Formats: sequence, C-alpha cells, structure tokens
Amino acid sequence: MAESEKSSALSALSTESRTFPPPAELAAQANATEDWYARADADREGFWAEQADRLLWTKKWDTVLEWEAPFAKWFVGGELNVAYNCVDRHVDDGNGDRVAIHWEGEPGDSRAITYADLQREVCKTANALAAMGVGKGDRVAIQLPMIPEAVFSMLACARLGAMHSVVFGGFSPGALKARIEDAEAKVLITSDGQFRRGKPAPMKENTDQAVEGTTIEKVLVVKRTETDVPWTDGRDVWWHDAVDSASDQHTAQSFDAEHPLFILYTSGTTGKPKGILHTSGGYLTQAAYTHHVTFDHKPGESVYWCTADIGWVTGHTYIVYGPLANGATQVIYEGTPNTPHEGRHWEIVDKYGVTIYYTAPTLIRTFMKWGEDIPAKYDLSSLRVLGTVGEPINPEAWMWFRTRIGRERCPIVDTWWQTETGATMIAPLPGVTHAKPGSAMRPLPGISAAVVDDSGTRVGNGEGGYLVIDKPWPSMLRGIWGDTERYQETYWSRFAEQGFYFAGDGAKYDDDGAIWLLGRVDDVMNVSGHRISTTEVESALVSHSTVVEAAVVGAADETTGQGIVAFVILRAGSTDEAKGAEAIKALRDHVSSEIGPIAKPRQIMVVEELPKTRSGKIMRRLLRDVAENREVGDVSTLADTSVMDLITSGMQDSKEE
Ligand code: WTA
Repeated sequence: MAESEKSSALSALSTESRTFPPPAELAAQANATEDWYARADADREGFWAEQADRLLWTKKWDTVLEWEAPFAKWFVGGELNVAYNCVDRHVDDGNGDRVAIHWEGEPGDSRAITYADLQREVCKTANALAAMGVGKGDRVAIQLPMIPEAVFSMLACARLGAMHSVVFGGFSPGALKARIEDAEAKVLITSDGQFRRGKPAPMKENTDQAVEGTTIEKVLVVKRTETDVPWTDGRDVWWHDAVDSASDQHTAQSFDAEHPLFILYTSGTTGKPKGILHTSGGYLTQAAYTHHVTFDHKPGESVYWCTADIGWVTGHTYIVYGPLANGATQVIYEGTPNTPHEGRHWEIVDKYGVTIYYTAPTLIRTFMKWGEDIPAKYDLSSLRVLGTVGEPINPEAWMWFRTRIGRERCPIVDTWWQTETGATMIAPLPGVTHAKPGSAMRPLPGISAAVVDDSGTRVGNGEGGYLVIDKPWPSMLRGIWGDTERYQETYWSRFAEQGFYFAGDGAKYDDDGAIWLLGRVDDVMNVSGHRISTTEVESALVSHSTVVEAAVVGAADETTGQGIVAFVILRAGSTDEAKGAEAIKALRDHVSSEIGPIAKPRQIMVVEELPKTRSGKIMRRLLRDVAENREVGDVSTLADTSVMDLITSGMQDSKEE
C-alpha cells in the first residue's frame, strides 16, 4: 500500500468490476433520464421547483429556498395540505376506484382499500381526533402494528396539521414513554394486541404502562387481535366507536410549507434518541420525486411493495408519503417473513403481481440463509425494479438478489439515506445507471454530496473518507425536537467552516468515481495506522461460499493498535467442518486475498445470530465489548437480548479451547 494512503481518512481496499446496464425496455420509457443530472446542476433551485409542481399547492411559494446554514426553509410562502395531496387529489382526478393499499394480514386476512375508501377513512379519523381536541401543532403518538389504521392515523394527523410521532410496535413501554414525554404528546393511538409469528402478542398492556403520568389525555385503541385489555374509562376510546361513527366528510385546511409534519425518534446504535423534525412542502416534494425516479414508478400500472415497518423512516417516506403522493397501488404486509412459511414474501409478490420490491440487506441475507430453493418455487415474473435500504449491501447479497429474486432481469437500486435526510439522496436511476453490485453510485439529480478528508477536501477516485452533503435539500431535517444545540453539534460542527452536513458515514470513490458506503465512521477500525472500513471486510467474508452474514469490529491490540475480530453466520446446512480450525484459517486467508493482508481478521467466531437493532442494523458496539472482554453495555435497543448471552459464552468457550 502506498505511503500516502496511510494518512487518508479511510482506506479503500476492495474492488468490484462487474457492472449491469439498465434493461433496454425500461430505459426506453424511464421516468428520469441521464440529462436530469446536468439540468439539476445547472439550476438546482429551478429543478426542485419543477419537482414541487408534482404536488398541489393551494398557494404558490414566493421563494424556493432560504438558507442560513444550518437552517433551511423551502418553498417559502407556499401552502398545501399534505394529506390532501396523498389522498383526495387522486379522487378528484378520477382515480377514486384505484386500489391504494392491498393490505395482507399475517393470519391471512386481507383488505383492498381504494383511494376513495382511503379518503373516507382519513376524514373519519381526522374528525375523531379533532373531537378529542387534536389540532394544529399538537403531537400524537402512534404505536400500532402494520395495519391500515396506522396509515389512516398518520394521514389524519397531517390533515389536521398535528404532528405524529410513530413509535415502532416492538419498542418497550419505557422507550414509548420517553418519546411521549419528550414530544409532550396529547393522544396515543394503539391497538389491543399485535400478531407476531402467528400469535397475538399484547400491545395495550404495554402502552398503558407508558402513558402513566404523562401528557397523554386520550388513548384511541384499534381492535386487532381480540385480546382482553385493561381499560381506563374516560381516557380510553375504541377506534370502532370513535372513528366508525365519525363523519366521512372533512375539509382539509392548508398549512405553510414549513409547517411541522412529524417527529421521528432515531436512536441509531448509540445515545439518547433524537426527535428528528420534518416539515411539509419540501419533505413531500422529495418523497414524491425520489419514489417516482428511483423506482421508475408508473401510477396505475406499478404494484409497489416496501417491506419496512411504518415505525421507521422508510415506512414514513416510502409507504405513506412518497407512494401515496404519487397515487401508487401498494402492498402492505402485517407480519414476519417466515409466517407461516419462509416463502411468504414470494407468495405475496405472486398474489398481487408486485412490480417494485423494496427491502433491507439484512432481510436479503436472511433469505440467502433460508436457501435459494424457497423463492425458486414462486412466479416472480411480475418484478421489474428491486431496491434496498438501511445498510451497505454486500456485493454477494446484491448478486443473490439480482439472480434469485430479480432473475437477472431487474435493476437494483441501492438507496442511501437517513432518518435525517428524509428521503433518498444517493442511488442509481434504474433506467440510466450502469450499476455495480454494492454501490449506491451517485447523488440523485438535485442532490450534491461528496466524500472528503479531514480538512473537508474532496478525496480522489480510489480513496475513502467522510460522506458529506454540501448543499441543502428539500427533505432535510429541520432540527432535533427541542434541542437546537444538539442539532448543530451533531450534524454541522464537524465541517462547520465549509457548512457541510456530516452524515456520520464513511464512504469512498472507486476508480470511476462511483460512491461506496463503508459503514459508520464510529465503527471504523484502525489497524497499524490504516483506517479500515467494517463494510469491506464484512463483504469479503460474505463473498466466501460458506458465510452468509458477518460483522467485524476492531478490538484493542498490543501490536497493531486494533485487531480485527469477526463474527460470522454460516449458510444453512453447513457441516461441523465449516466451523473447524482449518475452515477458519481458510476464511482468514480468503479476506487476505480479497482485500489484502492488512485486513486479515485476527480472530473469527462462528455465531448463530448477530446483535441487531429492531430495524436490522448490526450493533457493533456490543460486539466490541465482547471482543475486548468487557461487560456488554446497554442492550435496550437490541431486538433479541438473548443473542448477546450466546455470543459472550461462545467467546469464552473459544478462548478456553
Ligand atoms: C445506513 C434509513 C449503506 C447509513 C433510511 C445511514 C446505508 C443509516 C444505506 C441511516 C445504504 C442506510 N448503504 N448504508 N443504501 N441506507 N444506510 O436513519 O449508515 O434508519 O447513516 O435511515 O443507515 O439509518 P436510518
């Protein structure tokens, strides 16, 4: 390795030379074309004004952007109603009979909701909430399973100009309570229970603990599992009483473009949750635009399915606001992917003729683990575009997705964005980009991002550094709820001089200038002075035929500063031999030959599961604790806490051997 590279922010080690051009047929009628990049660069604000025209504004804006770093106002002076844009507008346009939501319940029940139905449901919900005293600027907490009422509730809040704060259904009473308190929410919307892996699990019992002693005045309860629930008269109200009896007529009022739309708490993998604040006009503009171009969505033709939970930002932007603003027909599935069997997703794709399927790398690796013979049994010929979000996708998983699910026909869009960015920022365009497996490629037209070194200077091709966004964008967060200082400190202090937004991710340019995401910079490993990304070593491990998932961390090392410790999950049906000393040595050598001896793991441990947040991100912090023999830290955001006990005891065993 060249001496000069040693001082770079992050080494770029792996190379990937495969590229996949867009299918000719798709390219010929693509929603966005190559010239969009130059057009947006030439007149960024003009470009965004054009995108804002996708929406119906009751009052046109005066100024596209007012930017006083780090505070942005988009479409200043404009007025609109977000829910009207997502629902009523389509009915007014004569598309009331179009299915908005094909809802598929976990136990097998289903419901088709047209835009006209959606309009009635949202109006009724808005009237019921208004009767409970919810109005402009109020906060409404929502903890619900993936049922249509979750969508109705969010849109009803938007319609009233109230902010929703959706909390993922799997979060504990303590986590919900902290979020209710921080936002000072007035109403909570929840359900009696939720189906999880074929069984009803309690919900209201938990939410009751959370609302105790908070600002919550009313709890609106959807009946889903028919579970007996504790009841507080005067506070608790059944959905089927309050909403079903409400009028289905409601006149939407317009709000300022910068009127707050929602708060969404993100804890990431560390620290106290931050209430990320998004507003109306800019957010909806970028949500609609990105959904239109990255998925090549064709209203009235496409059948779209985003598998995220509504409790995450992906559910907000790419289940509720983006697709509905575009008049999409979409699938919403309530349950887990292996209930009642491991082919459930493919059965749903076949049943509804899904054309766009958007999911997370963690799920793709799970499908790989379950085996390719499962999707092989289903007709997936309706699929046209595939997408991923949430983590870097390893080239191996990308290729599997392309081959086994896309059957070599479908472009894959690897979309990079964050709760904070509100919508996709870096991603291929399916009708334009010659995509590389594992790369998010380049910023979308209208977006400007760069990979820079410590001093904020753009690094060269073939080099790594920090990912920054150097120009404001319409769906950017407008702050952290109640904490302006933390907003400035967290995102804008690292490159304050340059006025860059620092995303916290490492990235590199390859030799062609395509962007590769390399994981969180907090996770970067420093081996003998080389800053090595977790993503590259993990991808090298996953490219070995026996490994399906990997997590690596840097652990203190007397000679090298940090040594690389890897945790790997083997493919289903792996023999004991694959876990033996010989096999482990072969794996270490494989990494060495894929990306260089510097990245060779010091130690590799075979595990059954990895510690993940509830949205599926690997919690490397906990693995670092294990690798450094420390007591395992805060596990409250972990999806399955027993995982850590298993890993810790396995680590001790491997030392005793
Ligand atoms: C990571 C999810 C690589 C990244 C929308 C980011 C990704 C964090 C990608 C945000 C991707 C998301 N490639 N990494 N395509 N998408 N990430 O807030 O580290 O849940 O900063 O938003 O996920 O996670 P969040």
